[in-house]
Amino acid sequence: MSVLIIEDNVSLATLISMYLSGEGIENEVVHNGFEGMARLNEREYDVLLTDIRLPKISGTEIFEKAKTLYPDMPVIIMTAFGNIPDAVKAMRDGAYDYITKPFENDDLLKTIKKAIEVSSIRKENSRLKQYMKDVNTPRMAGHSPAYLAMIKLADTVAPTDAPVLITGESGTGKELTARYIHGKSRRADKQFIAVNCAAIPEQLFESELFGHKKGAFTGADRDFKGRIAEAEGGTLFLDEIGEMPITVQVKLLRFLQESEIQPVGAGLPVKVNTRVIAATNKDLKSMSEKGTFREDLYYRLNVFPVEVPQLSRRREDIAELVELFSKKYGSKVTFSAEALSKLENAQWKGNIRELENTVYRICILKGQGVVAGEDVPTEASGDFAYSMNMVLPEDGLDLEEMEKTIIARALIKFGGNKSRTAKYLNIPRHVLLYRLEKYDME
Ligand SMILES: Nc1ncnc2c1ncn2[C@@H]1O[C@H](COP(=O)(O)OP(=O)(O)OP(=O)(O)O)[C@@H](O)[C@H]1O
Ligand SMILES: [Mg+2]
Repeated sequence: MSVLIIEDNVSLATLISMYLSGEGIENEVVHNGFEGMARLNEREYDVLLTDIRLPKISGTEIFEKAKTLYPDMPVIIMTAFGNIPDAVKAMRDGAYDYITKPFENDDLLKTIKKAIEVSSIRKENSRLKQYMKDVNTPRMAGHSPAYLAMIKLADTVAPTDAPVLITGESGTGKELTARYIHGKSRRADKQFIAVNCAAIPEQLFESELFGHKKGAFTGADRDFKGRIAEAEGGTLFLDEIGEMPITVQVKLLRFLQESEIQPVGAGLPVKVNTRVIAATNKDLKSMSEKGTFREDLYYRLNVFPVEVPQLSRRREDIAELVELFSKKYGSKVTFSAEALSKLENAQWKGNIRELENTVYRICILKGQGVVAGEDVPTEASGDFAYSMNMVLPEDGLDLEEMEKTIIARALIKFGGNKSRTAKYLNIPRHVLLYRLEKYDME
């Protein structure tokens, strides 16, 4: 617990300091704004007690600086009787309190003790908020360039209040990304409410989002706030937004523009501060061209498009994900290089969700020990020769060997028919014959 005193009147400063020390309150004294700034740059104090009229750097400037450096630190302004307007202005700008000189020691002590209390409450509050942020922010495994670029974009939009549209194939991690953006936003300590637009019957949709008054329709036996208002101060996640009925889309757009909602059966609109993050695996642009999704809503949501890349475009992440998922299930198995390579080269049409389920299944079936290549189910492992998104091995590869393998597999695929094989490989037949001879593959 420590108080920084900035006061140019040396004898007054000394008196205050001695008095506070006598009361068991640690303190440091400086006599001008420069030194005051220097101390503040070094560390935070529990309370700052500063004169407002100081030579060179004024108390007001110090207060501004303190506010940016340590928003939680209460600042008490000392002012001479004639300068009360300065103090009032500082209070309006967020100073904690002011005290007019000359003051009684008792008054000073009371003010400072209260400020110290406020300081500790504010700090505790910040700690809790940070804690909420941490538990609310999911870990996003992955280090591939495509994924890192997506995370960077998410980090950029997170602190804004702009709506975000997350697109991506099924199972790529759209909801996780939405939670991540919420966790990284100023709203992290407030609610994240997820609504699956595909799961709400059309006739209940409006009231689900915007709420209703008791008696607004049959079955409305009490007031209902609605999801948007429930997420006040936080984030509403509208999953599968492409399934939202057109009539509701109009109302959602209105909310995005006005930050107001009108509960069903209510007379007056209500102001609501809720951020919207939407997700879809549909192509909303082409839906809006066909008229099945409102174009104006599409443009409003699409201010910040975030596309979650499909797993086959970031195969570098697979090993990390496998490790993460097998740990998550508390599994004791380890994956052989062959098993990993099979997993890395599979199709993953169902993206991360499919990978997670596959790893889960392997862990259960294996129980313990080393997962071999043959333990990886074949439906998971795409043939690398047909997969253009294969992972390049770290220590280089032999292009001729690859070519040989691909030619051999294509020949098998076409039952040894060289014309069809050449056609498939998009090379003239004589080139194929030349290669077969060169590689001694007859
Ligand atoms: N980067 C990641 N790190 C770890 N787990 C992830 C990651 N991305 C996604 N997951 C996991 O993959 C699964 C699918 O993610 P999520 O539900 O967010 O996908 P989705 O795109 O919303 O899928 P759908 O389109 O089917 O609704 C979840 O279990 C999620 O925790
Ligand atoms: Mg989802």
